[in-house]
Amino acid sequence: MNSELLVASPAVATRPVRPDDLVAFERMWSRLSEETIYRRFHAPVRRLSLKLRRYLVDVDHRDHDALVAISGGEVIAVARYHRCAEEPAAAEVAVLVEDAWQGRGLGARMLRELACLASRRGIDVLTGDVQSDNLRMLGLVRSLLDAAALQPRGTVVHVRGSNDAAGKERAFSPCR
Ligand SMILES: CC(C)(COP(=O)(O)OP(=O)(O)OC[C@H]1O[C@@H](n2cnc3c(N)ncnc32)[C@H](O)[C@@H]1OP(=O)(O)O)[C@@H](O)C(=O)NCCC(=O)NCCS
Repeated sequence: MNSELLVASPAVATRPVRPDDLVAFERMWSRLSEETIYRRFHAPVRRLSLKLRRYLVDVDHRDHDALVAISGGEVIAVARYHRCAEEPAAAEVAVLVEDAWQGRGLGARMLRELACLASRRGIDVLTGDVQSDNLRMLGLVRSLLDAAALQPRGTVVHVRGSNDAAGKERAFSPCR
């Protein structure tokens, strides 16, 4: 089955994060493998500290926002952007899909929807650091950001690409 069709089913809904998602984040955390956490945070973050709890749900829906994917009432993925203070038209982006849902097109869907959201907030450039052996994420970046510049920096690859979400809207699912 086409993975895009799989995650396009109504069983997986996406929406902006809410403060009351915290409990669901805690439940998701217990389902994540060490590798998934390490890939996302570049560190072993086993416990949700107060700081991290705030970071997960405390967004202003302008300079910092996150989309969550929900299935069966559980948060199963999250994609987030942070506008760069020194370059307001650029934002750092990160995504996490829980292990059981990886490889089914959800990461791609989350990033596309996040890019649309960011585009509406005036974010034209998307950036991020990806571990150099994170082939799935690098493949995803290459497929979504046509003109992405990938710059090796030690153990990570720095990604910088133009957010042409408005153009992609024609090729993929429409921006909401
Ligand atoms: C990276 C991650 C977000 C990708 O999400 P996902 O739902 O697993 O990925 P998708 O199913 O949407 O795959 C997207 C594309 O990645 C590419 N891809 C997948 N597996 C790949 C692999 N082993 N090698 C290269 N490219 C790969 C393909 O282009 C794929 O599209 P296709 O298989 O439909 O043609 C997810 O695996 C994850 O959360 N990993 C742990 C955290 C992390 O690495 N976050 C990124 C750091 S910010």
